[in-house]
Amino acid sequence: MNAKMITTAEKANTFVLRRRFVLSALPEAARLRATALGLYFVRINGRRVGEDFLAPGFTSYHKMVQWQSYDALPYLCAGENVLEMTVNAGWYAGRFGCEDKGAFYGEAPAGALELEADGTVLCTDESWEAAESPVRFAGIYDGERADFTAPCKPLTPVPAGFDAGVLVPQMCEPVRTTQRLPVQRLFTTPKGETVYDFGQNIAGVCEVETGEDFAGTLTLTFAEVLDGDGNFYTENLRSAEAKDTLCCRGRRVYAPEFTFHGFRYMRMEGGTLPADKVFALVRHSDMKRTGRVATGQPLFDRLLANVVWGQRGNFVDIPTDCPQRDERMGWTGDINVFCRTAAYNFDIRSFMKKWLATLRQDQYPTGEVPHVVPDVFGSRGTDALWSSAVAMVPWTLYEMYGDVSFLADNFTAMKKYLAALENNTDRGLMARGHEYGDWLSFDNEPSFRFSCMGATDVYFIADVFYAVTLDTVAKTAGVLGEAETAARCRARREKLLADMYAEFFTPRGRLAVDTVTARVLLLHFGLAPAKLRPRLAAELNAMVEARKFRVTTGFAGTPYLLFALADNGYADTAAKLLLNEDCPGWLNEVKLGATTVWERWNSYLASGPDPDAVGMNSYNHYAYGSFMEFFYRRVAGIEAAAPGFAAARIAPTPLAGFDAVRAEYESVRGRFAAGYEKHGNVLHVFAEIPQGCAGEVWLPRGTEPAARGSGSFSFDIPWGK
Ligand code: BGC
Repeated sequence: MNAKMITTAEKANTFVLRRRFVLSALPEAARLRATALGLYFVRINGRRVGEDFLAPGFTSYHKMVQWQSYDALPYLCAGENVLEMTVNAGWYAGRFGCEDKGAFYGEAPAGALELEADGTVLCTDESWEAAESPVRFAGIYDGERADFTAPCKPLTPVPAGFDAGVLVPQMCEPVRTTQRLPVQRLFTTPKGETVYDFGQNIAGVCEVETGEDFAGTLTLTFAEVLDGDGNFYTENLRSAEAKDTLCCRGRRVYAPEFTFHGFRYMRMEGGTLPADKVFALVRHSDMKRTGRVATGQPLFDRLLANVVWGQRGNFVDIPTDCPQRDERMGWTGDINVFCRTAAYNFDIRSFMKKWLATLRQDQYPTGEVPHVVPDVFGSRGTDALWSSAVAMVPWTLYEMYGDVSFLADNFTAMKKYLAALENNTDRGLMARGHEYGDWLSFDNEPSFRFSCMGATDVYFIADVFYAVTLDTVAKTAGVLGEAETAARCRARREKLLADMYAEFFTPRGRLAVDTVTARVLLLHFGLAPAKLRPRLAAELNAMVEARKFRVTTGFAGTPYLLFALADNGYADTAAKLLLNEDCPGWLNEVKLGATTVWERWNSYLASGPDPDAVGMNSYNHYAYGSFMEFFYRRVAGIEAAAPGFAAARIAPTPLAGFDAVRAEYESVRGRFAAGYEKHGNVLHVFAEIPQGCAGEVWLPRGTEPAARGSGSFSFDIPWGK
């Protein structure tokens, strides 16, 4: 792009760059290229160009900025044309990051645009007209304030310092409005407030339409839940104002451009619009849906739908922790645990490629990995589950999609991270560094109250993820033909496991870290000596039984809990955890009305939002939704046996309490479907394997494949209690 990056001398939060020009005739082709330090959209002759929102996307702006390209022809006319680019502070120059450092990347937003029509190029520069926008202010956390009644004052366009060397073309699907939800209920709360309920917690904005006789200001605020009395509840948004205002006269259809909210409920002040003039616009990265699971049990299917909604609400250009409070950042640990579920549900290849590029750019020279990517508050470390995303996420994506570039692109970053890990060891074991541990676990019994780090020794967890990272880098090195690195990682892992064994087990083989999560991690990642596995599994099972099948694990234990049980002979216990309707547990949330997955097991109690959780309580956090991969891989049994599903092992395995399970997955090799149905004493097992995939179908309790190849298979086998 040759256009100049233009800002305003007034450092306006939002402004418009305008240029009028004449076309003697309609061109044959016209292309618009644009980008911003901040956010932008373009209008030609009053019509908004394209359907992308929050462009140019969220990256580590000093290192990479995307530009977008649009077909401009449909918007142009012969004669006079008006080109307008509205630019806003966004993630670049707006308040962002929970440490309240204000603008993180730059003081003021800037925009650059070029329009090429039949060889003539029109580029932004200081000669363009600059003015205020009807959007007087907009912030990701705080919402958008628009005034269509007062004139827009002129501003002074000035060039912004910008290194065009950081520009790259758009890397992934843009954020779009993917659904328009009507109002389910318009009601007045006990406090007398007017609230619109959309029936679903989403990320997005509201579209409102005022009538001919309207004159005034509407103020819209947003909430995920109502409190125990049925009143509008915003305490969990912390400092995020999440407030849109619209000041206008007469009929106007309005939906904000430069913000998004996490909400199910919208409160309107300053007037009341009829329910059919109000919609919730669902906005997120427009990824293709690739997977579905159904169990036929309404409560459980609602939980599965909540996981998918959680993904939609948190794949807003980067993988975020939550879409509502003053956070919405790319927490590495959250996507590390959710990545495989996400990759079954949607095609996340390009979305994750962009995020991983940012991760590499923001990795510290020491090899440490930021806890959030883009790194908006400089927290960094060798944090077990969080920082190991640098290796585990690319490996998961390689397994799911078979694309070696996930490994090749990130191999250097992985090795740098190993150096940072080693640097934090003492006598072979992890001993330093910031750790979040088994974040938000519920295992400080007997009260089952919340403790952030959980009861599992944080450096034990750090050793586990050091071992997992070594294994992942060894496998990556193997694929990339780096035999020496592979051997070095394997040797270091063996030594680490020996040290862990000496440190964490008593001489007679009892695990001294007395938590569910410790057993889950050792079993799932194959880190305990084989002879101790049965004992660890039996202990795990007994601990879960003793906790009455409540889910007491946190971010580190929960994603692997069901696998650790089911893969070691305790599938019935896994089923009871899944079907437990008490707190803490997945279905408890659904019973209390959840339409997304919560951050905490106690986010909401029968009496309303847990007062102890207020400081950090999101109703749309995908981390605990990571259990869904267990349904794809174990229950319906669609598991890759080679990267990218070039080979697959289809092994539906009935789970007690689930009479029928079906999953579908559109892999890069084609479509799989698998599952089972119980009919009295007969079990019906089915599998569809795409052409070109070396498939194997395994029946429950089978000792060899019941079928091989591709095609449709079904079996009826006797199935007793
Ligand atoms: C976020 C998380 C994140 C955590 C770090 C929270 O504030 O919402 O999901 O992983 O901090 O421990």
